[in-house]
Amino acid sequence: MSIESQQDLIGLMRIGRIVGETLRYMQESVKPGMTTAELDEIGAEFMKKHGARSAPILTYNFPGHTCISINDEAAHGIPGERVIQAGDLINIDVSAELDGYWADTGGSMPVPPVEPEKQRLCDATQEALQAAIDAVHAGERINVIGRAVEPVAKRHGYKIIHSLGGHGVGRHLHEPPHAVPHYFEPRARTRLTEGMVLTLEPFLTTGATEVKTEADGWTLRTIDGSLSAQYEHTVIITKDAPILVTAV
Ligand code: CO
Ligand code: CO
Repeated sequence: MSIESQQDLIGLMRIGRIVGETLRYMQESVKPGMTTAELDEIGAEFMKKHGARSAPILTYNFPGHTCISINDEAAHGIPGERVIQAGDLINIDVSAELDGYWADTGGSMPVPPVEPEKQRLCDATQEALQAAIDAVHAGERINVIGRAVEPVAKRHGYKIIHSLGGHGVGRHLHEPPHAVPHYFEPRARTRLTEGMVLTLEPFLTTGATEVKTEADGWTLRTIDGSLSAQYEHTVIITKDAPILVTAV
């Protein structure tokens, strides 16, 4: 969507805050020995308390309120009986709707005791998201995102998952522009415009540039078992720095 009124701005910022706080609350709740279903339930209750409805359920009938993906799972992991282990790298992705506005956020974290390799991957991926945030301005081509992210991944010796990109959001979970590349793709020439709402969400890995879908029909795992991390914000494009809708 593009922000067209004060009401749009207020509505989007409201759901942005809720998903951001849900993510933070879930991250603070992560404990080894807990199942991913238990962690998902914590997020579900938090969203419900704030009047928000899970976007993956509403949009895709996803079998969970949030997506929880561990180690070489990059995205769309189904919450279930899997037990979170000390040392795991866990990604939580939260998206939800309130009053017709939709926001999407996500983040990875190593579960203590932290393995240095996992912390390094998380730090680099956060740096990649920040580079994307710093790069987007109204008037630029959408390929500025990949142009900013790619050198960060390279400098740290990591790869970018090509098939997972940013997307428009706001009136739906996924809306145009679709599949916004976070690697440099010169042909991605759509203009960023003032008020445009989209996600920035680099996925960095220790080796793979591609994922495969598991037999469950949802979970996306790196093709070679390499680790994946992702950080995601919903942002509003302006002439200056974007507004971070999901930062809390
Ligand atoms: Co997301
Ligand atoms: Co997203």
